[in-house]
Amino acid sequence: MNAGRRQQYLDAMGITRYVLRDEPAAAGDGQIVNEAEPPTVAHQEMPAVEVQPQQTEEKGGAEAWDVLKAEVAACTACELHASRTRTVFGVGNESAELMIVGEAPGADEDRQGEPFVGRAGQLLTAMLHAIGLARDAVYIANVLKCRPPGNRNPSVAEVAACQPFLRRQLALIRPKVMLAVGGIAAHNLLDTDEAVGRLRNRVHFYGEERTPLLVTYHPAYLLRRPEEKAKV
Ligand code: URA
Repeated sequence: MNAGRRQQYLDAMGITRYVLRDEPAAAGDGQIVNEAEPPTVAHQEMPAVEVQPQQTEEKGGAEAWDVLKAEVAACTACELHASRTRTVFGVGNESAELMIVGEAPGADEDRQGEPFVGRAGQLLTAMLHAIGLARDAVYIANVLKCRPPGNRNPSVAEVAACQPFLRRQLALIRPKVMLAVGGIAAHNLLDTDEAVGRLRNRVHFYGEERTPLLVTYHPAYLLRRPEEKAKV
C-alpha cells in the first residue's frame, strides 16, 4: 500500500503517527501511536507475527465447508433463530493465516449476512488496511452466528449452542494466528473471564495446536472510546 493511502486510513482512525516495527527506533519505537497519548504498552513482550496477505494452499476441504455452511444456515439450536433475518457465517480467505473472531452480528450484519459490515466493521477493515492487510486476506467470524435482539450480550446458552460452529471453522482454517476482538470472543476462546485490558498485549495460545492468539479491544468499544485506538 502506498504511503498516501496508508495515511488516509490512519487519519480515518484518528491515529496521527505510524512507524513500521522494522524501521530504526525513531519516533514511536515501532508502534502505532496517538500523539495525544504516549504509548504505555510493553510491546517488546510481543513477538512479531508475520501474516502473509495472500495464501493459495487450500486447508479445509470444500465439502466440509459446504456442510458446515448449510448447517449454520438451517440452525435452530437456540432462540436466536426466531428473530434473525439471516445467519452470519463468516467471511474471507478460507486459507487465511489470520483469523479474527468477534462477538455476534449487529443489525447491519443481520441484514447483509456478513460479519463486521457496520460502523465497527468499517473501523476493523480500516485497521487491517493500516497494517497492510486487505479484508479478504483474513478470515472473520463471530462467536454467535445470529444477532441477539437489541445487540444484547449473548447468553451462556446461546454461546454454548453456537460454539461448535466456530470450533469447526477454526479446525478447517487452521490459522497461524488468531485475534479475538472484545471480551466475549476472548472469554470464549480462552475460557477465562479476565478483562480485555489485562488480556491484551500478550500472546495466548488456543487449542491443542497452541495457535498463538492475541486479544484486543472490540472496534465498537473504540468507536465509543477513540482515545483507546492507539493501543490497538
Ligand atoms: N460486532 C461483532 O462482534 N461482530 C460483528 O459482526 C459486528 C459487530
